[in-house]
Formats: sequence, structure tokens, C-alpha cells
Amino acid sequence: MSDLTAKVYKDAKGSITVEGYEALKYNFHYTSPVFDVQNEKLAEIYKRWERVLIVMDTIVHPIYKDQIQAYFDHYKIEVTWKIVKGGEMHKTMDTMLEVVDAMDSFGIVRTEPTLVVGGGLVTDVSGYACASYRRSSNFIRVPTTLIGLIDASVSIKVGINHRKLKNRLGAYHAPLHTFLDFSFLKTLPVGQVRNGFAELVKIASVGDKAVWDLLVKHGKELVETGFGFKEGGDAVRAPGKEICHRGIETMLELESPNLHELGLDRVIAFGHTWSPTLELTPRIPLRHGHAITIDMAYSITLAHSEGLINDAQRDEWFTLVSSVGLSMDHELFDDELISIATDAIKKTRDGKQRFAVPDGEFGKCKFLNDVPIDKLRSVLKTHKAFVKERFGSGDGKEAYVDAGDLGAEPEAYANGSAKSTNGHSEDAANPLKRNGIAGNHTKEAAVSAGAVAVDGSGDVTNGEVGTSA
Ligand SMILES: NC(=O)c1ccc[n+]([C@@H]2O[C@H](COP(=O)([O-])OP(=O)(O)OC[C@H]3O[C@@H](n4cnc5c(N)ncnc54)[C@H](O)[C@@H]3O)[C@@H](O)[C@H]2O)c1
Ligand SMILES: [Zn+2]
Repeated sequence: MSDLTAKVYKDAKGSITVEGYEALKYNFHYTSPVFDVQNEKLAEIYKRWERVLIVMDTIVHPIYKDQIQAYFDHYKIEVTWKIVKGGEMHKTMDTMLEVVDAMDSFGIVRTEPTLVVGGGLVTDVSGYACASYRRSSNFIRVPTTLIGLIDASVSIKVGINHRKLKNRLGAYHAPLHTFLDFSFLKTLPVGQVRNGFAELVKIASVGDKAVWDLLVKHGKELVETGFGFKEGGDAVRAPGKEICHRGIETMLELESPNLHELGLDRVIAFGHTWSPTLELTPRIPLRHGHAITIDMAYSITLAHSEGLINDAQRDEWFTLVSSVGLSMDHELFDDELISIATDAIKKTRDGKQRFAVPDGEFGKCKFLNDVPIDKLRSVLKTHKAFVKERFGSGDGKEAYVDAGDLGAEPEAYANGSAKSTNGHSEDAANPLKRNGIAGNHTKEAAVSAGAVAVDGSGDVTNGEVGTSA
């Protein structure tokens, strides 16, 4: 929620200036289980309305609907459900407008908050609906994935994909409250837990040494047990809690002074330089967590080659990510991708590289600029040789998106029989398909992921969408 104070003044020539400041306030509450009838926190908010509009996706709703219904029944709060299709293919204007229509038929009252329960996808789409509805309306978030809990719901960004462009439309729109309940990890598939774990590796590597040390000690069991919520109990939950709470707080401290992302040297951009392009380059996209881990792993090799971290630190980093089953390399992470992705990301960073890397120790960050392309290529060679020697292919477990992530069967998506995000069919299967999962459309991937387009030669153009084959 925000409050605007503004003053209006006229200068000697009669021009009028409005100068305003917006006070922003939104809260995070650690509470678990949020939908336990003994836990009044959420019900307190809705008591005055005696009703609630809840948005969820088709996968999470059946798992939690009975519990949520019983919770609100207990407090005599009437529930209206809006169930939307999940998956990136449904992160669209159509889905966003479905939520708008639901708010309309519900007759949502000016300050009445819509309740959004789900992963980063449903909170992004519904948050955008709330940002747009009557120019701004309230919402409350209850994230149910690890990505949602420690990343998507920590930010105030909301949005949707547009055509083939990722997160191209959106807003900065803070919810009234975010309820952080890690017990949702009990039902989250391990592949999704691992995906979110990568964001914790990111924040720890360059933002918080204490979290890093905890990850090294407990990482494997945290991923395998859903942070102690599938099995393992308090012994695993305790370090998991400390890691997540510190991770969230570190992220808030780093990003809150930069809510609108005007500052471009961003610590949390570690792992997010080449990965936006890499993630979308295979015929079936990589999971975000795997793409950013490959990017981070390469950045670690770069930091090592610059003398910023020593052998022992590099080895510790790789040992952790390998032990949890995250990817460290990919056959399509090659010289061409490095150069296209570097050009693409520079356009979003005001022409500079701003490669975030650990600085001397984990938890500290430095930004590298003007690294020559030859150096990037030689580091890539070193990286691939190192991964191959120590870890084989460097492939992670369940590294590719599944039907839940996509909102369509991956193979149907890849061969063009699934509907794309803009409702049209995707291009036919890529002729460069190599091993059934790999294809190569690095240039288009750079366009889809980043803020820029590349032309047929791989050069960055002026923002027109590239159509190279
Ligand atoms: N706003 C931001 O700053 C921000 C940050 C990071 C990611 N994101 C966005 O978030 C999205 C990814 O989020 P995500 O990884 O949470 O994906 P998601 O919302 O698609 O969830 C992943 C899968 O897990 C299922 N699921 C969710 N909670 C579950 C539970 N508790 N038990 C069982 N299944 C469950 C979902 O139905 C889905 O199939 C992307 O669209 C990304 O752009 C936004
Ligand atoms: Zn990320």
C-alpha cells in the first residue's frame, strides 16, 4: 500500500510543477500453518468483509482447497474461488483478464484485498490484475513454492509474458501483506524445491556468508526433505528456517533501496547474466534454477580466474551445487551463447557488463566490467574442462521444465502442437535438435528473455523483435 504526499507550485514563467513522495508500506509475516483454524492472522483481516476472493492455480487448489475452505468456514468468512491455469504458457493477458473479471463479478470493494495463494506465477499474474484493476487495488500474497517464498514474494514486481517476451508487461505493486508459511513445501515436488534452492545459493554466494556456511552444511538434506517438511522434522527445519529468514532479509536489505530497479549494479543479478538466454535456448526450456546455477558456476570460474576466490572456495561452491543436483554446465552454453547473451544483457544494464561475482569470500560482491570476449571464451573453456574432470557432464537432476511449469506437455510445447503464450502455435521443432532435448535458438531466446532483440546475424538491434532461424 502506498500514500502519496504532494505539493504543487508555479514558477515565474507560469509552469506548474507537482512534486510528490510516495510512502510505501507492506508487511511480511512468518506464520505456519497460515490456514490452521488456530491461526487467526489472516482471518482477522477478512473478518470485516465476511468474504474473500481467492485466486489459485489448478494444481495447488485441489491440494489445499479443503483446508482453506475449513479455515474460512471456521471464521464464517465466505469463500469465492477463482481458479486459473498455471504454467508459463498461461502467464498471459488472457489469464490476467480472467482474474480481473473475477474481481468484477465478485464486486470487490475499493480497499478489499484479493487473496492470492500459489507459486510465483499465480502471484505475478494476479498481482498484475490487482495493480491494473481500478488502476490499483489491494491484494494479499501467500506463496506456496520455495521460489515464491524466498524470491517472487520478496519483490513488489508483478507481471505477465507478452507474445514470446518474458515478463514484458507488469508493474511495481506492493501487496498489503505477505504471509510466509514454509509448510507448503511439504507438497512441493523436490524438483521445484531444488529450483528454488538455486536462488538461495545466489543470495548466499554474494550476499550472506552465514547463509552460505549453512547451505554447505545442510544443503543436500534440505533439498531432499523439502526443508524438513516432507521428512526430517525439526532437525532439518531449524537450519532451513534460519537460511530462508536470513536469505529473505538479505534480499530485502539489498533490494528495498532499489525497488524500481534504477540502480543497475545489483548483487542479486549474480547468476542472471547469461541465464535468461540459456534458459530459453533448448527446445524444452531449462528450469530457471538450473539455468542460473550454470550461469553462477561459470561466474565462479570467472571469479577464480580473476584471483577473486581461491581453489578451496571454488571447490566448495561446486561441491555444494553438485550435491543438491543442480546443473553446472550445458552443451548449449557455448561461445555463441556467451557472446549473444552478453550483448543482450548489456542493453538492460546501460551498456555495461556489471557481472556480479563473489569478492574474496562468499557473501561479498564485486561487479566486473570490460571483460573482453576472448577472456570470456577462455574462461568458458576452463569452466567446461573443470566441470568435465570433476563432475562429468555437469547435468543436474530434473533440469527441464515439466507440464506444471509450462502449463502444457513439454514435448507438445517443443514440437509446436501446444498453444504458445500468445495463443498461436510455436514454430515447428527446431532442425538443430540434437539429443531430443537440445535445440538451438539462442538468438530468439535472448530476445524473449531480455530487453533487446538480435537480428539474423546475432547482432543486437534497436529493439525490434528478431526473427532469425
Ligand atoms: N515477481 C518477481 O520478482 C519474481 C521473482 C522470481 C520469479 N518470478 C516468477 O515466478 C514464476 C515462477 O515461480 P514458481 O517457481 O513459484 O512457479 P509456479 O508458480 O509455476 O509453480 C511451480 C509449480 O509448482 C506447483 N505448486 C506450487 N505450489 C505448490 C505446492 N505447495 N505443492 C505442490 N505444487 C505446488 C504449481 O502449480 C506449478 O506447477 C515465473 O513466472 C517467474 O517469472 C517472479
Ligand atoms: Zn532468478
